[in-house]
Amino acid sequence: MSISEIFSVAGKVAFVTGAGSGLGREMAVAMAENGAKVACLDLNADGLAKTATLLATENISIVGDVSDEMAVDKAFAECAEKLGPVDILFSNAGIGDPEPGLLHEYSTDNWQKVVDVNLNGVFNTSRAALRQMMQTGAGKIINTASMWGLAGSSSVFPLPAYNATKGAVVNLTRELGLQYATHNIQVNAICPGFFLTELGPYDEPEFMAATQGFTPMNRVAAASEIKGTALYLASSASDFVTGTSLVIDGGCMAK
Ligand SMILES: NC(=O)c1ccc[n+]([C@@H]2O[C@H](COP(=O)([O-])OP(=O)(O)OC[C@H]3O[C@@H](n4cnc5c(N)ncnc54)[C@H](O)[C@@H]3O)[C@@H](O)[C@H]2O)c1
Repeated sequence: MSISEIFSVAGKVAFVTGAGSGLGREMAVAMAENGAKVACLDLNADGLAKTATLLATENISIVGDVSDEMAVDKAFAECAEKLGPVDILFSNAGIGDPEPGLLHEYSTDNWQKVVDVNLNGVFNTSRAALRQMMQTGAGKIINTASMWGLAGSSSVFPLPAYNATKGAVVNLTRELGLQYATHNIQVNAICPGFFLTELGPYDEPEFMAATQGFTPMNRVAAASEIKGTALYLASSASDFVTGTSLVIDGGCMAK
């Protein structure tokens, strides 16, 4: 195979959660630019509408909540009906701690919210995708974890629920990589460092200074810098890669 064939996702069906903003939007664009059909799921209808304007291939937008098991199952049924069974899942929707802080002052409601989206959302979407992939006999699952799934964040800011859920996604990725290793389904995670999205208040000079200052490359990444990694893990270029986490962080985790 030529290099362009190795990296091709032409004709595949990609399902992207959190596609209405930030990294998810760039993942959807990366898939469409390389010829995949794209199903975009997000809570935010306006964000989805903007993403749809950037996709040149066949695509559908579904407003839904990844923490809602029935909504997720329905969305995957709609994808299968309109675009075909899913070949590539980006389980990417995620939220930060609503009120970052020390654990002894942390509310149960906020803990539950973060677990519901960042961990239960990955469970709901992975399970729905795997049901289709086990039928077709192939698949790629790419979970967006975080560098804070590999290390604690408190030297920059305290995010107990975020760190716990992202660490769980890293280890769920290992387990699913093993479970489906002989089923022609690869499961990997991306662990981003600081990317310019709506997730953090990058318009606040203090936040920007803290995130840049922590990053050895002394800058935060543009959201579009996720596209190459997304295509690598979605395409046959990564066919012998499973259960692993790719760190894209300007050197943070090397410290
Ligand atoms: N930006 C970073 O620096 C960074 C770093 C590490 C990891 N991440 C991870 O990347 C992923 C994408 O985040 P982003 O940076 O693009 O942030 P973002 O806020 O720009 O985008 C997240 C999207 O997810 C959607 N979403 C949130 N909850 C949802 C739910 N319950 N159901 C469906 N959609 C939902 C939001 O509406 C939004 O469109 C997240 O998992 C995040 O934890 C981001």
